[in-house]
Amino acid sequence: MPAPGAAPTDFAPPISFDPAPPGGGPSCLLPPRPSPCALVIFGASGDLAARMILPAVHALHRHGALPQGLAVLGAARTPWGDEDFRAHMRRALEAAGGMDGPAWEALAPRVFYQPLDYADPAGFAALAARLDALDAGAGTEGNRLFYLATPPTVYAEAARGLGAAGLAREARGFSRLVVEKPFGRDLDSARALDVALHEHFAEHQVFRIDHYLAKETVQNILLLRFANAIFEPLWNRRYVASVTCAAMETLGVGHRAGYYERSGVLRDMFQNHMMQLLALVAMEPPPAFDAEAVRDEKAKVYRALRPFDPARLADDLVLGQYGPGTPGGAPVPGYRREPGVAPDSATPTFAAMRLWVDNWRWQGVPFHLLSGKRLREKLTRIVVRFREVPHSLFRHILGEDIGANRLILDIHPGNAVSLTMQAKLPGARLCLQPATMRFDFDAARAPARALDAYEKVLLDCMLGDQTLFWRQDAVEQCWGFLTPVLERCEACGAQGSPAELHGYAAGSWGPAAGLEMVQELF
Ligand code: BG6
Repeated sequence: MPAPGAAPTDFAPPISFDPAPPGGGPSCLLPPRPSPCALVIFGASGDLAARMILPAVHALHRHGALPQGLAVLGAARTPWGDEDFRAHMRRALEAAGGMDGPAWEALAPRVFYQPLDYADPAGFAALAARLDALDAGAGTEGNRLFYLATPPTVYAEAARGLGAAGLAREARGFSRLVVEKPFGRDLDSARALDVALHEHFAEHQVFRIDHYLAKETVQNILLLRFANAIFEPLWNRRYVASVTCAAMETLGVGHRAGYYERSGVLRDMFQNHMMQLLALVAMEPPPAFDAEAVRDEKAKVYRALRPFDPARLADDLVLGQYGPGTPGGAPVPGYRREPGVAPDSATPTFAAMRLWVDNWRWQGVPFHLLSGKRLREKLTRIVVRFREVPHSLFRHILGEDIGANRLILDIHPGNAVSLTMQAKLPGARLCLQPATMRFDFDAARAPARALDAYEKVLLDCMLGDQTLFWRQDAVEQCWGFLTPVLERCEACGAQGSPAELHGYAAGSWGPAAGLEMVQELF
């Protein structure tokens, strides 16, 4: 295998990207402004709000993407007033970078706070009264977006509290509920959560976020496939040898052990982000680019997943857990020494999985999913590896080993699509060398700016567009696929024999067995 990260020879392709929309149409960066609304952030004093949601609100405001009649209402147990929350938001924006003083001065008067105990009906009644007052004072026109940036244990209680206070009703404007993963921790709990959410909210009101879907290159998969005629004829078992989707991270578990110990990489990354990447590569063209049509096609992919064969668990699933290491020269502890992690924890922080989509298009083509923490580089990538040439004319030069073409979609770092191919090296002798034709969307788009994933999902929630959000049937199908795998892995761990858990050094590429499964990744 070539050294990970080593790029074959690149040559500059004579292609460019025309940033102007065809016919000089409307801006590609921003949709029309959403209707006035109150954005209510539950868990407003927490980590997710500080790192992701508040910076996204500020960035959207800077770009003029938010409605004129906007109120941002933080809600949490912390006993703050409006000014405390504004000071907190200001600190969060400074910490996140990109703070724009004048923009913040204009936004701050639209930021409010309401202390709320999620178990207290009186608290929700007070919230309802506050929202009514904001309709009059801030012009939010009865539209409400409730963002549950709380621990998942609070979701059902918060949804019930909202419903009991009449806040799920769409009498005067919309009422939408935004839920972050995890959507349950197995099939049964996912169903139970859904029942709780639907006591008061209808499916069209529930927005289940997967921030991977809002990444530019991830969105681009469907456009690449279905807005170009050249890929689809090749996009099947006849020409594709394998598909790999990888999300490798350099970060460790950080301060999230309380959550991660109960989740592990399969619940944290596979049940959601990795399954979405798989579906975008594997799905059939939808009849229209709308939420239901796109999500119907994804659901069909999940329905076609071959149930995991327990007898092949050791061959088709590699689990790992990071040990100590020195990524970038600085020593870091192993997972079991991270704060809040049990010293004998069997929670996997790495997984590589081989799975199969049993339908006409993909029969016999392995799909590999890989994700892990504390790996050498942050790399999020999809590789479609095509079949090798059926007969080699160049056997005398290269032997039988002519590298297959690969289409690589880089999601991080960069935002690029590359095609690897064989090319002739200049010279009198016939020498072949792998070459990569790479198109970098970010470089070509400069100086225009893409929306960050959380900016995009917030805007879509305000606009009521569910295309990039999970639908419950797909959530259940994915849990239906993964739950037996989890149960089997956890049975091993519970018996105190995490035999299938491979150790790997922090800062490495993960267990060798995992990398063997995904050789086409680099
Ligand atoms: C989150 C997971 O959903 O995605 C985290 O909970 C993970 O554990 C993160 O680090 C990765 O997202 P990204 O966008 O950095 O690849």
